[in-house]
Order: sequence, then structure tokens, then C-alpha cells
Amino acid sequence: MTTLTTAPLAPLLARLFDEADAASPASLPEVREMSADERTRLMQSKTDYLDLYTRMKDLPLPVSRETGALLYMLARSSGARTIVEFGTSFGISTLHLAAALRDNGGGRLITSEFEPSKITRARANLAAGGLDDLVEIREGDALQTLGADLPEAIDLVLLDGAKALYPEILDRLETNLRPGALIVADNADYSPDYLARVRSVAAGYLSVPFAEDVELSMRLG
Ligand SMILES: C[S@@+](CC[C@H](N)C(=O)[O-])C[C@H]1O[C@@H](n2cnc3c(N)ncnc32)[C@H](O)[C@@H]1O
Repeated sequence: MTTLTTAPLAPLLARLFDEADAASPASLPEVREMSADERTRLMQSKTDYLDLYTRMKDLPLPVSRETGALLYMLARSSGARTIVEFGTSFGISTLHLAAALRDNGGGRLITSEFEPSKITRARANLAAGGLDDLVEIREGDALQTLGADLPEAIDLVLLDGAKALYPEILDRLETNLRPGALIVADNADYSPDYLARVRSVAAGYLSVPFAEDVELSMRLG
């Protein structure tokens, strides 16, 4: 049996995903009434992300159930011990990644979030899942918090914060990616610059779109 599929984590994740289903972005009038163009503009903005995510601060915005399972599988099967995550929110993806670390025999997960109320919720969820000892939450803008004091060899990265910042976050992590490191980027379609970079062997990556929402990339070594 695994940490992901047994109590306390399995029922906790089932509840958190059910709650997330009931609190989609469309449940917020200002998001529901936004035009598709305005939504795309905000998602692609390198400056308005704080405003956008502050408006959505009470929403969990998690990866899909399938992507959550994929994160666990990739981290578990690659034997990851060192993971970095951009965008914690309520900690649903973090719980999947930390579960894999637990089943790999331990490790370190550094995650980043700028909304204090979300960090409080993520901490509570990680404690309820019995995984808080594996996770360091860095509070503040990830452009700063992931800019220093990183592990020397990162095994796996999840990019799931402001989409427009994926290239800048990759800049901060790149020299610490071990050869063969995996990078999962959720909804990377909003960041064409990022996709062009990770789809370039010359830039040092192999990359494929995976399932509906994910770009799965590997650092060449
Ligand atoms: C899509 S949600 C993350 C969901 C989470 N990965 C999960 O699956 O449970 C994105 C989160 O990133 C945070 N965020 C966005 N840009 C950020 C930045 N520059 N620094 C830190 N956090 C950021 C937002 O506040 C939001 O909570």
C-alpha cells in the first residue's frame, strides 16, 4: 500500500478535490463575467498576476485528479528526493508530491506561495495528511523566494503558479536541475515562450504535451 492511496491522505484528497469542484473560478462573479480575451490577457501578463490571484485567493485551483496522480507516479517512479513547486495554493498538488517523497524514503519539497491565507490552509492540509515534515513553504513572490538557497540537484519541478512567469522561474532553477530532472508545467499553453524553450533540444530539454493540461519536460544532461 502507498501513502497516496491509504488513510489519512486518500480521504483527505477526496474531500479537497470535492470542495475544489464546488469552488471553481466560475463561481466568482468577477471571473464569470470576464471576457475570454481579458482572462487570456491576465493569464499571460507578467505584471498583473498578483491582482488576478488575489481575486482568486479563496479558491483552491488545484491540478486535476489525473495530474495529481501523474505527479505522484512521476516522483515515485523516478525516485525523486528533491522537489521544487511553484504555486502551492491549498497544497493539493503538494500533498501528491510529498506522498511520493514519503514512499521514496524521504526527501525535501520546497514550495512557494504569496497568498498568506492559502499558506495557512496548505499547512493545515499537510499536517492532516501527515506530510508536513517533508515540506518547506516559502512565503512571498516565487521570483524572489525561488531565487536563492536551492538544493544542488533538483529531481522534479512542478510549475503551477502564474503561467507567464514559467520562463523566469525556470531561469532560477535551471542550473540546479540534475540531468534527467523532470519538469511538469500545468496549463503551459498560456506561456508560449516557455513551451518554445523546453521543446528545444538545443536549449537542453526534451518535452511533450501530456494529457490535456500538462507539458512534461526532461532536462538533458
Ligand atoms: C493554480 S494555483 C496552484 C494549485 C496547486 N498547485 C494545486 O494543485 O493544489 C496557483 C497558485 O500560485 C500562486 N502564485 C501565482 N503566482 C505566484 C508567484 N509569483 N509567487 C508565489 N505564488 C504565486 C497563486 O496565489 C495560486 O495560489
